Amino acid sequence: MIIPKMRKKYELPLFAKLPGIHFDIDILKSELEALDNEWKDVYEANRGLCANHPELAQDNHANFEQIGLTQCEADDIKASLQSAKLQCDSMVSTMKEQYSPLKAYKLKSKRHKAISPLLDEHNWHQPTDYYHSSPIKKMIEEQFSEKAIRVRIVKLKAGATLSPHIDYDPTYAVRIIVPIITSSEIMNVFWKRHEKYEFHLPADGSAYFLNVGFKHSVVNLTSTDRISLMFSLAGQKDIGAIVNE
Ligand SMILES: [Fe+2]
Repeated sequence: MIIPKMRKKYELPLFAKLPGIHFDIDILKSELEALDNEWKDVYEANRGLCANHPELAQDNHANFEQIGLTQCEADDIKASLQSAKLQCDSMVSTMKEQYSPLKAYKLKSKRHKAISPLLDEHNWHQPTDYYHSSPIKKMIEEQFSEKAIRVRIVKLKAGATLSPHIDYDPTYAVRIIVPIITSSEIMNVFWKRHEKYEFHLPADGSAYFLNVGFKHSVVNLTSTDRISLMFSLAGQKDIGAIVNE
């Protein structure tokens, strides 16, 4: 069997609508209603994973909330928010002590060498009690062949901008977004070779690949919270049809 070579960020577009994938927006909206009491601060939702991006968590925690649908298999989910912040801070200082900033950054793409299992998104695949029987799980599993990791619903509040940042190369994991509530002026922004690109992603049931290996941001200068289903795929099988621009 020939295993296709994993494509790196420059071999993939900045974003792409996934052909043949469709999510029922009405079902996603009713799931949102059912989960409305579950919004969490990024520290609490991401636990130690915040240590991968401490500045991002710090700059955006007031404007960005999440509902986790899968969690880390190694995480103590009963820990308080205070201890989640402490856990994150202590991981950041451990990383600062042990690694140069460049090396710490590169750790994100070296899944088996991460200093803690919490820092590896591939460990964030355990369904929450709610997600076990959620139609979201069914829609993802029926339409994707790769394992979905770090499944969550994310909210960028009205009037907020997500700080520009880089997550990881698509050889590590493949980021997928399904906008649920948006407004036509809300933009996903990417920078590639010093050029800026802006795209609006409509909430029409489409799923999009996001090339989070490039610097990116989301600008929401509207009065509407942008809410999306977001997850990563553990491999690239489902984006085989995507061509680079
Ligand atoms: Fe990101």
